[in-house]
Amino acid sequence: MTVPAGAGRALVTGAGGMLAHDLVPALRQAGWVVAALGRADLDVTDASECVAAIDGHHLVVNAAAYTDVDAAETDEAAAFAVNAVGAANVARACARAGARLVHVSTDYVFDGTAAEPYAVDHPVAPRSAYGRTKAAGEWAVRGLCPESWVVRTAWLYGAGGPNFVSTILRLASERETVSVVDDQIGQPTWTADLADLVVRLVEALAPFGFHHGTSVGQTTWFGFARAVFELSGLDPARVLPTTTDAFPRLASRPAWSVLSHDSLDQTRITPMPDWRTGLATHLNA
Ligand SMILES: NC(=O)c1ccc[n+]([C@@H]2O[C@H](COP(=O)([O-])OP(=O)(O)OC[C@H]3O[C@@H](n4cnc5c(N)ncnc54)[C@H](OP(=O)(O)O)[C@@H]3O)[C@@H](O)[C@H]2O)c1
Repeated sequence: MTVPAGAGRALVTGAGGMLAHDLVPALRQAGWVVAALGRADLDVTDASECVAAIDGHHLVVNAAAYTDVDAAETDEAAAFAVNAVGAANVARACARAGARLVHVSTDYVFDGTAAEPYAVDHPVAPRSAYGRTKAAGEWAVRGLCPESWVVRTAWLYGAGGPNFVSTILRLASERETVSVVDDQIGQPTWTADLADLVVRLVEALAPFGFHHGTSVGQTTWFGFARAVFELSGLDPARVLPTTTDAFPRLASRPAWSVLSHDSLDQTRITPMPDWRTGLATHLNA
């Protein structure tokens, strides 16, 4: 299907989620007529619902996902149904409708043992059930819908849902000190910055395939929490460093989650701002 000049009809799945909260207005701002469908309107695990909903659209952004990383460890089938089968359903329906697809994925497809930023074509080796289901979703999307972009993001926060920043601010109001792990490194990413990048990728008709949608720079969860305190006028010394071992979780977290933006540089798409800039803008919004 040819996309009309000045955008066209777009559909966002998982419209009740945190990322979709910023994606939908960003697409509208760019001139797209957007159908924002939450789980009650479009369950991506239902293949025929996907075909019916996606027909007539030029662009689909699949923001629907099973995102409870720890719960996925004990119910991988439920996560797989949404993150892999659901992604495949959306991709197949896009290919049938001639719609382009942006599929959102995660740093958790990597094993977290690298010492330099992960390139888009670095072999995936997920260490959690959630990561396995998201890796399967990426594979299905690229296999079923040639005109697709898989955008991997990480450490997302934004106004549209509970997240690390809102949790830290709540803890700051409840406790004198907050202990946060200082041995996992990543790129805190504001949903509004990611929404803007998605629009720019689509508008630039970036090469189909994999891209990384994370902030520039890197920090630990401890560094992130200290920045939340600082930028909120609170004393950052109230945030204390701790280790992953001191906070056992069901799912293993990657120790190194820094993603390379080389694919953006190569296509002359400006990467997102530095993570501190995104955080400051979010906290001032
Ligand atoms: N949050 C992060 O830190 C992070 C990091 C890396 C990658 N990502 C990826 O970024 C994307 C957006 O994440 P997010 O943070 O916005 O997640 P979110 O807030 O959990 O949103 C996901 C949405 O998908 C919906 N959904 C679940 N099952 C569905 C189904 N069968 N059919 C249709 N919708 C369904 C959820 O509805 P319910 O609320 O009713 O379940 C929810 O509204 C996801 O692909 C996620 O894997 C997120």
